[in-house]
Amino acid sequence: MTSQPSAATANDHIMGVYNRAPLAVARGEGVRLWDDKGEAYLDCVAGIATNGLGHCHPRLVQTLKEQSEKLWHVSNIFRIPGQEELAERLCAETFADVVFFTNSGTEAIECALKTARKYHTANGNPERVEIYGFDGSFHGRSYAAINAAGNPNYVEGFGPRLPNYSQLKWGDHEAIKAAIANPTTAAIIVEPVQGEGGARAMPEQCLRGLRDLTREHGVLVIFDEVQCGMGRTGRLFAHQWVEDAAPDIMAVAKALGGGFPIGACLASAEAAKGMTVGVHGSTFGGNPLAMAVGLAALDEIAKPETLENVREVAGYFVQQLSGLADRYPDVITEIRGKGLLIGLKLVPNNREFMALARDQKLLVAGGGDNMVRMLPSLLITQEEAREAVQKLEATCEVVRAKAASA
Ligand SMILES: Cc1ncc(COP(=O)(O)O)c(C=O)c1O
Repeated sequence: MTSQPSAATANDHIMGVYNRAPLAVARGEGVRLWDDKGEAYLDCVAGIATNGLGHCHPRLVQTLKEQSEKLWHVSNIFRIPGQEELAERLCAETFADVVFFTNSGTEAIECALKTARKYHTANGNPERVEIYGFDGSFHGRSYAAINAAGNPNYVEGFGPRLPNYSQLKWGDHEAIKAAIANPTTAAIIVEPVQGEGGARAMPEQCLRGLRDLTREHGVLVIFDEVQCGMGRTGRLFAHQWVEDAAPDIMAVAKALGGGFPIGACLASAEAAKGMTVGVHGSTFGGNPLAMAVGLAALDEIAKPETLENVREVAGYFVQQLSGLADRYPDVITEIRGKGLLIGLKLVPNNREFMALARDQKLLVAGGGDNMVRMLPSLLITQEEAREAVQKLEATCEVVRAKAASA
């Protein structure tokens, strides 16, 4: 009989690419998680914006149970009715005409980048290959995704960087204009609200300006809404806050499956014109299990009351957290983000702060620029938000006390 691994050896056979919190999660419900010792936590991470409806949402559980008894997998060489239905629903909610389903955000990004380059080839412009991303962005961990984001921590040590990928500085309008006017540019890829980069929302006039200019020069716009999409900002997609800013291609994942692995690359018919039979594919993408859960999750998230809740609770959070930042300027220097993608820029090290918050039974995520991010369930109540703020305040007190005794 194999014995249970001890805490000291539990990670021996896991590739060491994650800096994991010493917390073994056993169970979840709504905004709560319980560890293997039965200790409860208020979860403001939600699988990094993935459990958009909280943990074990009853409708998603029921849907998964029912579908698991009907059909799991068939292959994309057959028609998959659930896939057709979810694609139709996503197109009805967005600019898109067609969808390619994947299992993750990275794969959705990969499809988006390939779609953009294929578009120009189909147009007789195969020289249009330049992909411009932005500093501070994150698009996943495939070669294309790390090269599109250009974060040195993620590209170094993996051989030469892929050619024809570069990054623009957030807010450097002249460089952005020059990149768009470059006749070999294929696409600009941007997160309307950066997640990993530290809850940084692109100003609305910049998104619109980017859209206008790219149209003028025949450059495609790819929005990465893997983290900021699916209701996170209080609209189904973050770019929908800005009139006439729809992209040509969009990557979606995370909350689309409410915790079940799904990704999707959405595109206009025009942008997808190079994606013909045989140029792309996936074994698991769009499988019946994922599609059933995705349909249920989209249905719940797109409800006006869900999006209204996000806007209301986000407003409450911003007000309360601004007060906290005023009372603890020695701990929190800035509150930013959009909707329930909230960033707190910190004075103390963000990893230390996360550990101290955990002591208060509050889970928050890290982020670039020494931020912690709060990305709770879209269904979090104001009462639960109040509890989160109280736990943050208690954390700030501990930080202050530690600084005083140091
Ligand atoms: C904005 C953004 N794009 C892409 C990805 C990659 O998604 P996945 O980890 O599902 O491959 C992430 C993941 O955090 C993300 O936040």
